[in-house]
Amino acid sequence: MRAVIQERYGSAADLRIGELPDPVPADGEVLVRVKAVSLNGSDRENLAGSPAYSRIGGLRRPRHPVPGSDIAGVVAAVGAGVSEFRPGDEVFGELAGYRGGLAEYVATPPKLLSRKPSGLSFAEAAAIPQAGCIAYRATRGVRPGDKVLVNGAGGAGGAFVVALAKHCGAEVTAVDAAAKGSYLLSIGADAVIGYESEDWADRRDAYDLVIDLVAQRPPHRVHRALRPHGSYLMVGGHARILLATLVAGAPIGWAVRKRVRVLAVPQSREDLEAVTALVVEGSAAPVIDRVFPLEEAPAAFAKLAAGDHRGKFVVEVA
Ligand SMILES: NC(=O)c1ccc[n+]([C@@H]2O[C@H](COP(=O)([O-])OP(=O)(O)OC[C@H]3O[C@@H](n4cnc5c(N)ncnc54)[C@H](OP(=O)(O)O)[C@@H]3O)[C@@H](O)[C@H]2O)c1
Repeated sequence: MRAVIQERYGSAADLRIGELPDPVPADGEVLVRVKAVSLNGSDRENLAGSPAYSRIGGLRRPRHPVPGSDIAGVVAAVGAGVSEFRPGDEVFGELAGYRGGLAEYVATPPKLLSRKPSGLSFAEAAAIPQAGCIAYRATRGVRPGDKVLVNGAGGAGGAFVVALAKHCGAEVTAVDAAAKGSYLLSIGADAVIGYESEDWADRRDAYDLVIDLVAQRPPHRVHRALRPHGSYLMVGGHARILLATLVAGAPIGWAVRKRVRVLAVPQSREDLEAVTALVVEGSAAPVIDRVFPLEEAPAAFAKLAAGDHRGKFVVEVA
């Protein structure tokens, strides 16, 4: 089968399109003929091997040579013991371990896969899983009138976070490069901050919830922007900030009567189906910036690393 192959950590120049043996589904697995894969910030991190958490399970080189985690496709075969899917079923979801998607076929346990709604294209379905599930968890508990700030809103995951916060009735401030300002307003943000000219953390008592997709500030720097009883959620960012927030976030938050913590987002079929129901009813929509053919996947990764995307890049495999 044709696949994107990554043998070492590095840059898009370390990716090539090549041939790999077709996978065979083991007992309890399904074989999916992949149609579309969407790229996330985590795919950029898994290519670079940075932050450190992206090397879990593959310290020196990627444990799986094929990148790509959010897939949509058609079940081609099922292993022994699989009863919930049959060949021909259209499915989408995340791959365990965040790798293996950018290939004509992938074998995976079916527990993270869902049936693709007929009204969504394969590209649209592939654009939902990771971004949608982050947004679903991060915005749980948002109430009408809450002031929510989304840091790093212009990338792969931000559009879903902005959309679900708006769906909950929040007033949303989106932070990203100033050049993405008009895009952020177009996806529903009420206000934008260009990170080059203003540090949102210098604001005082401004937000009920800060959702940080690109955390760079230690926990003692983020709580002052929160209103009384507000929450700061670190979703992604530097490994040292992750560690500092895990260790010091709770005591700092407790001292100031706010919450400062890391949001762990499990790979979950239930969350995927809940957020997809919101997409189907029209409360949120995947934002696809551009669709690339498989041969141009390395170029898509190069543009992802450069921050050239507004929403999702999708790679069409077949
Ligand atoms: N917590 C969990 O359980 C969990 C689960 C899955 C994924 N994740 C993480 O969640 C994150 C998701 O990010 P994503 O997919 O949306 O990433 P992304 O596509 O890379 O988007 C990040 C956005 O942030 C912008 N940005 C860069 N520097 C910034 C700064 N200093 N201030 C504000 N914005 C800045 C980027 O724009 P420019 O590059 O143009 O500046 C880009 O638009 C990843 O780190 C991933 O590992 C966490």
